[in-house]
Amino acid sequence: MQNILKLMGYMRPYWKQATIGPLMKLIEVMLELMQPRLVQRIVDEGIAKGDLDLVIETGLWMLGLAIGGVLFGIGNAWFGVWVAQRVETDVRSALFGKIQSLSFGNLDKLSTGHLITRLTNDVRQVGEVARLILRILSRMPMAMVGGLVMAIVTSPRLGLMFIGLAPVILGTLILVFRKANAMFGEVQNRLDRVNQVTQENLAGVRVVKAFLRADHEIERFGTANDRLMEQTIRVTQLVALVMPFMMLLLNLGVVGVIWFGGIAVTQGGMKLGEIIAFINYLLLFLQSLMIGSMVLIRMSRAEASAERIVEVLNSEPELQDRADAKRDVVLEGQVAFENVTFSYNETADDPVLRNLNFVAEPGQKVAILGSTGAGKSSLVNLIPRFYDVDAGRVMVDGMDVRDVDQGTLRQQIGMALQESVLFSGTIRYNIQYGRPDATDEEVEAAARAAMAHDFIVQFPDKYETLLGQRGVNLSGGQRQRIAIARALISRPKVLILDDSTSAVDLETEARIHDALEQMVGCTSFLVAQRISTVLKADKILVLDDGVLVAEGTHQELMESSSVYQEIYDSQLGEGNGYGGRAQC
Ligand code: CTP
Ligand code: MG
Repeated sequence: MQNILKLMGYMRPYWKQATIGPLMKLIEVMLELMQPRLVQRIVDEGIAKGDLDLVIETGLWMLGLAIGGVLFGIGNAWFGVWVAQRVETDVRSALFGKIQSLSFGNLDKLSTGHLITRLTNDVRQVGEVARLILRILSRMPMAMVGGLVMAIVTSPRLGLMFIGLAPVILGTLILVFRKANAMFGEVQNRLDRVNQVTQENLAGVRVVKAFLRADHEIERFGTANDRLMEQTIRVTQLVALVMPFMMLLLNLGVVGVIWFGGIAVTQGGMKLGEIIAFINYLLLFLQSLMIGSMVLIRMSRAEASAERIVEVLNSEPELQDRADAKRDVVLEGQVAFENVTFSYNETADDPVLRNLNFVAEPGQKVAILGSTGAGKSSLVNLIPRFYDVDAGRVMVDGMDVRDVDQGTLRQQIGMALQESVLFSGTIRYNIQYGRPDATDEEVEAAARAAMAHDFIVQFPDKYETLLGQRGVNLSGGQRQRIAIARALISRPKVLILDDSTSAVDLETEARIHDALEQMVGCTSFLVAQRISTVLKADKILVLDDGVLVAEGTHQELMESSSVYQEIYDSQLGEGNGYGGRAQC
């Protein structure tokens, strides 16, 4: 339960309300505890002696206490909800904030599906527990101790009944509690599996349709769903057994009380009201015990959720800024790799990039060429320090990127990632995402440079066209061009386009490159599969399986690099249909 308790620490800022609420519950219970004594008085002193005034007076007292109890109960509910909802919201915000602070490396390890479950279902469970603690669990100690004490005070002789019943009840509860705890853990695992299958399916629903695998998916989902059902039934049935069992004990207790009490009454040693009051205290005690134990079971169920939240909250971003990291540096745009070796998983023997060395001078246009999986994206991701190198250094303007504040560094680097991700919102919103204070003219200029302006103005709403969910969905090439515009808008010193024109036709691509040359006086890195993209570059880096196999201009490489010549021939050389045309 340590994780759930840890998260309950989020009540701390609201400690006043979190104290007042349970205090009100305490008063409510205290008022409740007085009622059986008053009943006893009515029966033994009012009815038995025919004192109607006493009956009415005591009755009014009971009414007053009941109304008071209700008011305090409402107060408790009010504060309980107030605090619990804030705890839930704060935990969710903390979790969301934490996820934003994590590095690429952390995020690679946490799947989106799991993060969504944590942010929604798991956080909800925690809020629910906060509510139960403040509203119901806070009642338990007072009602149990109070009920027990009052019962014994009312009738010490019948109080012995408790001593017989209590160990049986507690023993049963502990047994059920232990068993249920383990079973709930398994419920949570199976729920995770259902979520995972669902998430994968929804993300890939088009693939499922394309390959006619719907039946397979339904079966896969059905299996996970059934397994969840079986486990949930098992544990719910176990927990459900508790109630009837408790009721049985309770009724046996009542029968016992009436039995022994009845004998005592007929023999004149005990009064009727005493028995009634005693039974009421017994009920109060057992009720709280039952409800309280249900809450504890619920809490243990939420522990699995809490554990997953705490796991994320406790994870440290893999990349940290040094205390003396440079801020406020204005980059010229020189980028240099010195003996860079990099792998995603440091334990792997085979690094993704090996001993890379090159320099890109400010303003140069550097093309990176290589087959798929060669390490092109990995290389460019090291420039904004999305990952740290294993060995060697990545330098900007002669500074190690690890010595520069991440924000300062990334602010001056414009990037279009290989996968063009757009957000739901207007086209303008998406382009401005790169610099929220950009003016309309700047948005348009960026869109023009990215060859996006022409297709944007063809939409009826132009720049205000809504994208995503309920707006238009763009083609692959259109998305790429919006992503390029977003990278350009911040007028970066270093521009990185990772395969950003792969879905754009050759002519548009060429025009984008021409426009880029006009617009930006920055160092640019263009990752490309197509050789036509790189012909005009100041420098071409040819990567092969993580190794820089050639470096130079097109002319130089044609003369010196056989790998480059091969790529050239395969794409633009004679005998290649479309390549041949593109060449002339
Ligand atoms: N890789 C990895 N973990 C990632 C990304 C990549 O282990 N998060 C590995 C890939 O398996 C690949 C190597 O790193 O073997 C290089 O990947 P990448 O740099 O993405 O290759 P690219 O040259 O960009 O390939 P593509 O042209 O397909 O984009
Ligand atoms: Mg790539």
